[in-house]
Amino acid sequence: MDSEFWISELTDDDVPAVVTLCRSALDIPEDAAEAAEIVLRLRENPGRRAGFIASTAEETIGVVMGSVSHRDPSIGHIDLVAVHSRERRRGVARALMSRIEGALAGLGAGDVVIAGNAPFYAWPGIDVRYTPAICAAMALGFEEDQPAWNMTARLDQDLAPRKIDGVEVRAATGEDVPALTEFAIRNWGRPWAREIADSVGRERAGCHLAIRAGELLGFAAYGARPNWFGPMGTAPAAQGLGIGSELLRRCLADQKASGLSEVQIGWVGPMPFYSGVVGARVERVFFLYRKQI
Ligand SMILES: CC(C)(COP(=O)(O)OP(=O)(O)OC[C@H]1O[C@@H](n2cnc3c(N)ncnc32)[C@H](O)[C@@H]1OP(=O)(O)O)[C@@H](O)C(=O)NCCC(=O)NCCS
Repeated sequence: MDSEFWISELTDDDVPAVVTLCRSALDIPEDAAEAAEIVLRLRENPGRRAGFIASTAEETIGVVMGSVSHRDPSIGHIDLVAVHSRERRRGVARALMSRIEGALAGLGAGDVVIAGNAPFYAWPGIDVRYTPAICAAMALGFEEDQPAWNMTARLDQDLAPRKIDGVEVRAATGEDVPALTEFAIRNWGRPWAREIADSVGRERAGCHLAIRAGELLGFAAYGARPNWFGPMGTAPAAQGLGIGSELLRRCLADQKASGLSEVQIGWVGPMPFYSGVVGARVERVFFLYRKQI
């Protein structure tokens, strides 16, 4: 007979057990390997959030984490759900999802989405290879939204720096962060500002910028997860000068120098740009879901 389980709020003390659980429950190897980074990144979210674990007398068998959208407080995000492989198909995820939906409603959400709450996210949505999770989302009344994807860029290519006439391209330092933050908020909104600030001076992360006559023209950042690239942006007036290509190549050169053989470009917008500049290919595909509560 299945052993009894109960649901309780996720606390800091539970984090090590949740990481252990995710190492085995996330059955895509690259996610299992980064289980600690994933859980800690979600716990870093300074916004309103909630989390629950499912336990038996012996161990933690499930986890769910959710947060209120940084862009729209009427939207709640499911950031992570995982159940131990031995404990599946007995309603653990169903119970966890019901609790998190209630908690997100209590925090003011009217809609719940299974989608990344940038910048504190593990995935843009559910990787299609987590097929049981797709089945569970359908069974729990979620409707499919637009899909999303990451692209993979191999680093065994020439990434030597190139010059752009009249434009200085260089690595960002702590002193650049205020100007970069203001630049990102002005052009693209707050989530990217946080990702840029986090990338500067952090281990296995970094940011490059392009500047002309004291004016910032673009940036590219990497390291939100160890082998992820992004975000990046070139000011609309400076597009078409090759700035984005060079910023991308400089970041990938850093990541190559750190020993990586490939990187993932997270939650991609302009597929032809990444395909054209560094031969990146679409690899991870994610389904996103939405439900009214
Ligand atoms: C997705 C996951 C959390 C589901 O956990 P679970 O405790 O087994 O889910 P439940 O037992 O509550 O299932 C709820 C419903 O989802 C559907 N479902 C779940 N797994 C399914 C499967 N393998 N095939 C078909 N339907 C499935 C069913 O409709 C099920 O209800 P039913 O058993 O009454 O038919 C679990 O498979 C898991 O941890 N997967 C790996 C991690 C993952 O993919 N996380 C999501 C990444 S964001």
